[in-house]
Amino acid sequence: MKKILITRKLPDEVVNPLKEKFEVNMWHSDEIGMTYEQLKAEAKDAHALWTVLSDKVDRELLESLPNLKVISNLAVGYNNIDVSAAKENGIIVTNTPGVLTETTADLAFSLLLATARRVTESERYLRAGEWKSWSPMQLTGMDVFGATLGIIGMGRIGEAVARRAKGFDMNVLYHNRTRKMESEEKYGFTYAELDTLLKESDFIVLLTPLTPETKGLIGERELEMMKETAAIINVARGGVIDEQALYEALTTNKIWAAGLDVFEVEPVPLDHPLLTLPNVTVLPHIGSASIRTRIAMMQMNADAIKAVLENKEPENRVV
Ligand code: DGY
Repeated sequence: MKKILITRKLPDEVVNPLKEKFEVNMWHSDEIGMTYEQLKAEAKDAHALWTVLSDKVDRELLESLPNLKVISNLAVGYNNIDVSAAKENGIIVTNTPGVLTETTADLAFSLLLATARRVTESERYLRAGEWKSWSPMQLTGMDVFGATLGIIGMGRIGEAVARRAKGFDMNVLYHNRTRKMESEEKYGFTYAELDTLLKESDFIVLLTPLTPETKGLIGERELEMMKETAAIINVARGGVIDEQALYEALTTNKIWAAGLDVFEVEPVPLDHPLLTLPNVTVLPHIGSASIRTRIAMMQMNADAIKAVLENKEPENRVV
């Protein structure tokens, strides 16, 4: 019987059908993941690995798993997997695009609104008993309606964020490796070079995958170009921003605020300097976290694993 290793505890409704045909070894916790060493040991004779974005699947691990045919990652991003090593070793990698587009765009937009209007900071203020009276300039933020939004990385999620922005009468600029002519025409987005977008946007939303080219894409130079009143929102991967440079920019008023759903190290350590700043709104990487979307993502993983183990071509193949 072919063996599947699932690195987190997942709902029975998606896992049980696999148990009818395969041997399933599922980790006992949905919150605490396996260490790298545990993963290596548990995966030893697996034919399929069902991973989450915090599982590091590197060359060393891949080359220690002789039976492995497929890795299915519970995310659209797959920067946690060495896909070149997988390809070289004839291992298929699949992800979960499409089903999380609207959910992640909702979260990106929520974080933008929360950052602009200081929502979480205001809640902390109230709960801390600091609300002594209504005061004219208390907790005042930035207007979202009519502002210029710059989207860096105009894939499916970028387009979904841009559509939401149109409902707020925002002017939408985007920067992407390729122009999206059809969408430009359909929705009225405007392509901009990176520097122009940085200089002209009131809100910047990062939606690029983390690759060697996008690592540290937003650093000191880029933050310096932004407006002093601008906010940056990261719902992509932490590594796309240089966090040290972001901290400097926020503490020297080079930019106004940041909204972060992702961090270079996750979970972000509680003593991280960015967490000390009131103008940083933080979330624990919940971009795609709606019940329906997560179940749909898991179903995609289950279907892909089943297909590969039955010698069929899976959908959503990365390599
Ligand atoms: C993804 O799918 O890559 C997201 O970051 C998960 O929320």
